[in-house]
Amino acid sequence: VGERKYLIGGNWKSNGTYDENAERIKVFNGLGPIPDNVEVVLCVPYLHIPLCLTSLRDDIEVGGQDCGSNVKDGAYTGEIGAHMLKDIGCTWVIVGHSERREGFGMAGEPEGLCAEKCKVALDKGLKVMFAIGEKKEERESGVTMEVCAKQLEPLAKLLKPEEWANVAIAYEPVWAIGTGLTATPEMAQATHADIRKWMKDNVSEDVAKAIRIQYGGSMKGANAEELLKQPDIDGGLIGGASLKDDFFNVINGVP
Ligand code: G3P
Repeated sequence: VGERKYLIGGNWKSNGTYDENAERIKVFNGLGPIPDNVEVVLCVPYLHIPLCLTSLRDDIEVGGQDCGSNVKDGAYTGEIGAHMLKDIGCTWVIVGHSERREGFGMAGEPEGLCAEKCKVALDKGLKVMFAIGEKKEERESGVTMEVCAKQLEPLAKLLKPEEWANVAIAYEPVWAIGTGLTATPEMAQATHADIRKWMKDNVSEDVAKAIRIQYGGSMKGANAEELLKQPDIDGGLIGGASLKDDFFNVINGVP
């Protein structure tokens, strides 16, 4: 990974009562130091962001799990604007998670909307973990990179090269999310390398070299080291394991 600082994101998804998550914060506050070459971000339910901002250890940044595409206040019932996340003290936001793209059986988020949200979040001063990844049948039919390219294209059209400095790509094979089925280090490395090559060919060599590509999909303490030693895996986006102290085994799994 060379000069790229590792990025380990935790994604609590839709988990925890206020008290349960206050307890999780207490556990995290009591765990060991975070290595200097690792940046850690915890993306929590909107309602628990203030709790994290006021009581979570200050060497872990706080992020949202999505944001609206609205650029300002207004009649956007139910939307949490990127400007609101920034205002309250978040520094990061996840955009394009497959659980948003799939839309829980309703209309999911099309690639263009994910790209638009990412641009708005960047314009409001947030850094973005932009999630992409293929479904099981797409992996089995060998179109993984076509899928990832289709998810990245609208963003590459929208952003100026320098705007990518505040973007990380979270490659999350959908078939590995929450299933306990992790991509093998070799498989993950191959796709990360393909994504980095796509960035070189479609954005710029400098951006491709600098951008951090996180792996997500059943990553945990037991498999983190093998994944994080791969040259093109610059971190992780962790779901289940980030709800427990195992999250720190992932953080300490960096080389
Ligand atoms: O955003 C991270 C998430 O999709 C991965 O979930 O539970 O497989 O680590 P999990």
